[in-house]
Amino acid sequence: MVIFGAGGDLTRRELIPSLFELHRKQLLPERWAIVGFSHGSWNSTMFQEEMRRAVEESCGSAASWDSFAARLSFIGGDATSGDDYALLAAEIARVQAAFAIPDNLMFHLAVPASLFGPIAERLGASGLATSEHGWRRLVVEKPFGADRESARALDQQLRRVFAEDQIYRIDHFLGKETVQNMLAFRFANPSFEPVWNRNYIDHVQITVAEDIGIGTRANFYEQTGILRDMVQNHLLQLLCITAIDPPVHFDGASLRNETVKVLEAVSVVPVDLGGGAARGQYAAGQVDGVTVPGYRDEADVPADSTTATFAAIKLTLDNWRWADVPFYLRTGKRMARKLTEVAIHFKPTPHLMFPGAADGPRHRSVLVFELQPDEGIEQTLAAKEPGPDLTLSSVKMKFRYAEAFGVEEPPRAYAWLLLDVMQGDQTLFARADWIDKAWQIIDPIVERWASEPPSNFPNYAAGSQGPPSADELMRRDGRRWRDL
Ligand SMILES: NC(=O)c1ccc[n+]([C@@H]2O[C@H](COP(=O)([O-])OP(=O)(O)OC[C@H]3O[C@@H](n4cnc5c(N)ncnc54)[C@H](OP(=O)(O)O)[C@@H]3O)[C@@H](O)[C@H]2O)c1
Repeated sequence: MVIFGAGGDLTRRELIPSLFELHRKQLLPERWAIVGFSHGSWNSTMFQEEMRRAVEESCGSAASWDSFAARLSFIGGDATSGDDYALLAAEIARVQAAFAIPDNLMFHLAVPASLFGPIAERLGASGLATSEHGWRRLVVEKPFGADRESARALDQQLRRVFAEDQIYRIDHFLGKETVQNMLAFRFANPSFEPVWNRNYIDHVQITVAEDIGIGTRANFYEQTGILRDMVQNHLLQLLCITAIDPPVHFDGASLRNETVKVLEAVSVVPVDLGGGAARGQYAAGQVDGVTVPGYRDEADVPADSTTATFAAIKLTLDNWRWADVPFYLRTGKRMARKLTEVAIHFKPTPHLMFPGAADGPRHRSVLVFELQPDEGIEQTLAAKEPGPDLTLSSVKMKFRYAEAFGVEEPPRAYAWLLLDVMQGDQTLFARADWIDKAWQIIDPIVERWASEPPSNFPNYAAGSQGPPSADELMRRDGRRWRDL
């Protein structure tokens, strides 16, 4: 495996800890090595030391580190300079010979998105992208393009060197256990599928709330904003996993065909800020009892920035299963707490026979898939309270990973996805046509928001539930967001 950008944040926080986790679980192939390639003057020993620190921070301990570290090496260079690829090729040849590794290469692009295309081209020109004796796979991080046009251009650039079945566009949400469990729940249990439609489901809420701000990523975020950073990829993927029809097989073709069909069913894009869309930017506030600055006071953010840090949109799917069922998507930074969940709100029972119950608040059954921080599934049900009267109240039936499987924390999403790449399984990676459809939905919203600069930013306090306009979006439909 070659990691481009091995000196960066993603490599230390996710890639190396995930690979180390696979190593400790003995899931890596028998013969392997990792070559880090990045700007900088590290040698391999310095890289190994840096990565050890990263693993200790991330995994708590680096037991059995030495056998892992022996397979890590580093080449300093410029990924845009053709000459440096000769150095890289020599290092790849050295480790392949030293560890008797077959001629299989996985290139992970953990570099700024502007380099995805140029690196692919240079891999092609250097001869590293082809082999008669083994496979070549390219892992591309998000964001994949900044809009439909640039995503298409990037795709064409990559496809001049790599075929679609060699390209793995990563969205780490799809590596999460609960996301895959949504599929298992729906398609391995007979009780869910019959009610998974407009006859029984009132609406769906998909929430990806973060309590962190933008930290030191202002330059990236100012150009990207919340729609491109979160909605175009993570939220639309969660929408697809929630709404897909049963695929015939759990494989790259079947599953991804169905997810594309979900996006195809979005015929109306909610651009209207007074209707199906709401946006926001955080002001100063309190998160976990700590006072934090507003977005415009973060390092390198212009004092009059109009970049949105919150988005809520209402989508409907024009197909038999979901006609008239709204899917409400919301995501934001500096919200009350970190929470990622998909909540399926069922319709109320058509008739309540219990005396008095009809006058009280109507019970709504909600099935919640919580992806983070506490991965699990929860169903609210109506139950009779103990006592002489038949009084109904809501109770919860819970499934938590930690309890059910005795694991404190589910494995890292990146670990599973990297393993899938090694095994040549593209099921949980975004296909080019899916990316294209996703931009087709997001582009008009981005354009409308750009054409109507907000006059009320910042409009939600850090540590809050989001801007009032998001509540209004729900109120218009007679609904409310679940509390964070
Ligand atoms: N960090 C995350 O949590 C995260 C999550 C999802 C997706 N991603 C994506 O993953 C990619 C990497 O993100 P990151 O946060 O790790 O970025 P980063 O911290 O900026 O790391 C990028 C690394 O690439 C190096 N680099 C840049 N240009 C280079 C060149 N021409 N030749 C050689 N090395 C070069 C940088 O070195 P210098 O700094 O010395 O230039 C740096 O070490 C981005 O596309 C990002 O959008 C990141």
